[in-house]
Amino acid sequence: MCGIVGYIGTQAATEILLSGLEKLEYRGYDSAGIATIWEGDISCVRAKGKLLNLRSKLEQIENPAQIGIGHTRWATHGKPEEHNAHPHMDTALRIAVVQNGIIENYRELREQLKKLGHEFRSETDTEVIPHLIAECLKNTVKNLTSPSVLLDAVREAVGKLEGAYAIAVISADFPDELIVVRQQAPLVIGFGQGEFFCASDTPAIVPYTRAVLPLENGEIGRLTPLGVEIYNFAGHRLKKHPRTLNWNPIMVEKQGFKHFMLKEIYEQPGVVRACLEAYFPNSAEIPVTLGLPADFYADLEQIQIVACGTSWHAALVGKYLLEQLAGIPTQVQYGSEFRYAPTPLTANTLTIGVTQSGETADTLAALGMEKERRQGKEFKYEARLLGITNRPESTLGQMVDNIINTHGGIEIGVAATKTFIAQLMAFYGLALDLAYRRQAITQDRLTEIITGLRQLPADIEAILETQEKYIEQLVHDFVETKDFIFVGRGINFPIALEGALKLKEISYIHAEGYPAGEMKHGPIALLDSKVPVVAIAMPGNVYEKVISNSQEAKARDSRLIGVTSVNDGEAAEIFNDLIPVADVEEILSPILTVIPLQLLAYHIAARKGLDVDQPRNLAKSVTVE
Ligand code: F6R
Repeated sequence: MCGIVGYIGTQAATEILLSGLEKLEYRGYDSAGIATIWEGDISCVRAKGKLLNLRSKLEQIENPAQIGIGHTRWATHGKPEEHNAHPHMDTALRIAVVQNGIIENYRELREQLKKLGHEFRSETDTEVIPHLIAECLKNTVKNLTSPSVLLDAVREAVGKLEGAYAIAVISADFPDELIVVRQQAPLVIGFGQGEFFCASDTPAIVPYTRAVLPLENGEIGRLTPLGVEIYNFAGHRLKKHPRTLNWNPIMVEKQGFKHFMLKEIYEQPGVVRACLEAYFPNSAEIPVTLGLPADFYADLEQIQIVACGTSWHAALVGKYLLEQLAGIPTQVQYGSEFRYAPTPLTANTLTIGVTQSGETADTLAALGMEKERRQGKEFKYEARLLGITNRPESTLGQMVDNIINTHGGIEIGVAATKTFIAQLMAFYGLALDLAYRRQAITQDRLTEIITGLRQLPADIEAILETQEKYIEQLVHDFVETKDFIFVGRGINFPIALEGALKLKEISYIHAEGYPAGEMKHGPIALLDSKVPVVAIAMPGNVYEKVISNSQEAKARDSRLIGVTSVNDGEAAEIFNDLIPVADVEEILSPILTVIPLQLLAYHIAARKGLDVDQPRNLAKSVTVE
C-alpha cells in the first residue's frame, strides 16, 4: 500500500509529482506529501486526507524545482495525521525519504538513533530512514570506485533495514541525484528524454514515457539528469535495459465515465475478447495456449490455490472448473491463512497464486513459503508454481517461473471488476487445457465450451445495454438498506460471495454471501422485510434448489431479487425484481451473473454519494500483512 513517485529532469517537478500521485491514490489516500529541492533547501509540503488537500496547499507556493519525491499514504504505523505523512526528513532537514512497505526493526533503530542525538517528529517506521542515511553520510568518504557518496550512504543504510520496502531519497546536499531502492515492494523507473521518473506503479509514469524498468528485490537505482544507474546491495553495477509498455495514457483516464469502476465494468466485454484471443487460438490441434511448458502438468495429482479477496473468489470458481472439467482435486486457501497453517506436503502438486496486482503480501508470502518448503525435495514434492496475474512484471512475476497473464488492462477502481472477469477467463483456459491434455474431456465438449465462451462478450454487452438503467432505478429502494444477503450454489456460490464483497466495500452496507442451501442452517434467522436477498438462479443442476431456497426467503418477507436467465418464464412469479442475463449453460454463467451484481453495488454506492473508486480504509494493492 502507499504510493511513491519521484522525478528528476528539466520540467517543474511539483505538477508531475502531483499527477503521478493522482494515478497512485488507489494505493492509499489517508494523507499525502511531496519534497523538492529548491534554492539549496528541501521544501516539504504535506497534508492530511485526500490529495486535493495537498494540491490546494501547493497552489499557494511557487516552486520551479526540477527534482522531487512524493507519497500517498495508507497508514500502517502512526495515525493518518499530517506529522505522520511522508516525506520524512532527518534532524537537519537535508534528506527527505518516501517509503512504501514496513520497516520491521524501526523501534530498535529509532532508539539507537535517538541516543546519537537524532530528533524524531512522527510515529512512523519510515522516519528512521532519513536519520539513518544522515548517520551513514557522516561516515561515508568519497570512494573512487563509486560515483556517489549519497548512493553509498543509502546503500549502507538499507543494509541495516529489515522488512519489505520501496524507498525514494533526495538530499539538498546532492541536488542532482534521486536514489531509489526496492526490497519486496514494487518500484518502477521511467526513462524520458533527459528526465527520469520512479513510481510504485506504471500508471504514474505512462503519461510521460512508456520505457520502463521494474527494479528487482535488492536493487538500487541512481537517477540523475544524465541517466539511470542500477546497483545491487553489494554495490556492483548491473546492466539493465528498459522495456516498452504497450499501454497508453488514455487507459488511465475516465473517458467520460463518472467513475473508474463504471468504466472498468464497461470494459469487460473487451477483456473477455482479449482473453479469448490469447488463450483459445481457433485451432483443432492446439485448442488452448497458455504458454506453459509441455511437461507442466506431468504426473499432476492435485492443485492448491492461494489468493485473497476477490482473487480468492475467482479461485473458488477455478476450483469448480478444475474439478468438474479436468477432474483434478483442488483446494483453495486464503494466503493469510495458508502461510501460518499450510496443508501437509503432498506429491505432484501444483500451487497457484492468484493476484491481479501481483503484489499482495499474504499471497506472495504463502507462495514463497511453499517454494521454500519444497526446495531440495525430490521431483514428486518439488515446487511447481504458477501465477495468475494481471501484472506479469510484478513481484509475483519475478517469483514464479510460469505466469498466466490475465489481460485485464490497468484497473484503477479499488474494487476489482474487470480483473476478476479476466481471472475467471484464465481459469477457463487452465481447466480446459488441463482437461484436454489429460484427455478428461471429449473434443466435442471442448469445442462446445469454447464456442460458448466466444459468445460471452456480446452477452455482457447485452446486460450493460438492457439492465444498467433498470438497476440504476432499482437501487433507489436500497439506499437506506442496512443488510443484504446474496445466495447462489455450485459455480455461482463464489459469485454470491463476490456480489456481497463488492457491495460491502464500496457502499458500506453489511452484506453476506451464502451457499443458498446453507441459509436454513442459521442465517435465515436474519431475514425479514428489511433484508433483501439477491439470488443467482441460472438454469442447470442446482436451479430448482436455488428456487426452493429463494421461496424460503420470500416466506420470511424478504424482497427477492433474481439474477436469472432471460428465458426463465417462471422467474417473474417468484422474484420481486428480475435482472435477466443470457441463457447460457451453467458452467459459463459466472462471467454473466457477476455483471448485475457489480452494477448493483456500483449504483447503490454512487446513489449514496460515496467515493466509489477510493472506498474508505481500503487500498488496491495490499502490500502489508
Ligand atoms: C476487492 C478487492 C480485493 C482484492 C484483494 C487481493 O474488490 O479488490 O479484495 O481482490 O486485495 O488483491 P490482488 O488480486 O491484487 O491480490
